[in-house]
Amino acid sequence: MDARHWDDMYRSRDQVFSGNPNPVLVAEAAGLRPGQALDVGCGEGADAVWLARRGWRVTAVDVSEVALRRAAAAAEADAEVRDRVAWARDDLAATPPPAGAFDLVSMHYFPLRREPDHRALCGLLAAVAPGGTLLYATHPLPAPGPGPNTAAEYYQPGDIAQLLGPAWGIVVNETRPRTTPPPEGTHHTHDAVLRALRLS
Ligand SMILES: C[S@@+](CC[C@H](N)C(=O)[O-])C[C@H]1O[C@@H](n2cnc3c(N)ncnc32)[C@H](O)[C@@H]1O
Repeated sequence: MDARHWDDMYRSRDQVFSGNPNPVLVAEAAGLRPGQALDVGCGEGADAVWLARRGWRVTAVDVSEVALRRAAAAAEADAEVRDRVAWARDDLAATPPPAGAFDLVSMHYFPLRREPDHRALCGLLAAVAPGGTLLYATHPLPAPGPGPNTAAEYYQPGDIAQLLGPAWGIVVNETRPRTTPPPEGTHHTHDAVLRALRLS
């Protein structure tokens, strides 16, 4: 799934996602003190906008130029949001973000493929500053519904929790019912969520 795949996916509809922030983000980040946030695979930008409105300075990264253009356009009317969000095109599976730079690294449904050496994952984990939070939400296994099941190719929260060493504290590692209906055309009724605090 390269940039072209995602650009085509976004071009296929005028708006792909709801425009609302992910409920897992709202539930888990509402109580955090705002600082620097990295939104990994920000898509059409609803999470980045929500964070900015709460006072976060957000680096919102996506591999899709189409998604980023849409996200920036949606944020344009709100001067506060515009000033607090930097939209950036990058492939975060290939290029790690700056190490130790973010008080929150938020990954919602980011298609992070398992690798034997966990190279891309380690780069993303390293981006969390000491005292900062990692928030990872994805579709749990087994994936419901018919069709080919590729979900096992991607990291589950439990995989990541096992890789976190003593420098981390696990705050949440669970599968929970979604509070919103499954995304259109899917059977996803639950979210798998990891929230971890980098202690040092
Ligand atoms: C399922 S969408 C989720 C979008 C958003 N986080 C949300 O929850 O609405 C996954 C997003 O990750 C982006 N993406 C996929 N691979 C990427 C990569 N290697 N680097 C950066 N972004 C990527 C896609 O373009 C897409 O916008």
